[in-house]
Amino acid sequence: MKGVLGYDSKVDELYGKSQSELYDGKIFHIGLDYNSWMKKVGWFEGPILWTSNWIRDNISLGTEIADVACGNGQIGLGLRNHDYIIDGYDLNPNMLQRFEATNYRDLFEHDMMENPLPRKYECITVIGAFNPSHLPVETLEMVRDSLTDDGKLVCTISDGDFFKGWQNAQQKWLNLDSYDYIPSILIDGEQSHHFMCVFSRKNDNV
Ligand SMILES: C[S@@+](CC[C@H](N)C(=O)[O-])C[C@H]1O[C@@H](n2cnc3c(N)ncnc32)[C@H](O)[C@@H]1O
Repeated sequence: MKGVLGYDSKVDELYGKSQSELYDGKIFHIGLDYNSWMKKVGWFEGPILWTSNWIRDNISLGTEIADVACGNGQIGLGLRNHDYIIDGYDLNPNMLQRFEATNYRDLFEHDMMENPLPRKYECITVIGAFNPSHLPVETLEMVRDSLTDDGKLVCTISDGDFFKGWQNAQQKWLNLDSYDYIPSILIDGEQSHHFMCVFSRKNDNV
């Protein structure tokens, strides 16, 4: 498996877990799979709810959406029966095999660090994956190349990462339209936050 730091690099200091520990089955010591754990720590009331609400308020029903780093389909679970056409893309076949959502049109194994998506979308979600050991800021170039001219990227950026070059680096490929800072996961009494960001494609200077 590819990746800047390798597939099995630690995801971050808070989780202290590797990608395979988190995503390949039951999370070591916790005894839950990824989706059950995320339900338990508040991810669905935080970033998933925020993203589902943003999509419902801003994206017309029937629009094709690419959910990149889709995991087990957490965004689809959040959107429930709202009528969007969602394609899921994830690097890890184990996550796709344990898919929980039933409202995706298609699922693809895809490494977003290696290639843009095979087609362009008006809306791309990348929830829970912009951090140095998953998708570093440079991946935004691949995302830009996967958006239609008026396309929108809705994504999380973890707390510290937002200030480590994101605000400047993103300007090469995308415009930051808006952001919100919300509680994301609560682990052992420690509340983490994520930035919920909306970007539009930058078409000049390409
Ligand atoms: C924290 S999970 C997020 C899953 C889901 N979007 C959610 O909100 O719960 C991160 C996901 O990113 C995927 N991922 C990591 N690196 C990737 C890459 N280079 N390309 C595509 N997906 C990747 C992992 O396999 C994992 O499913």
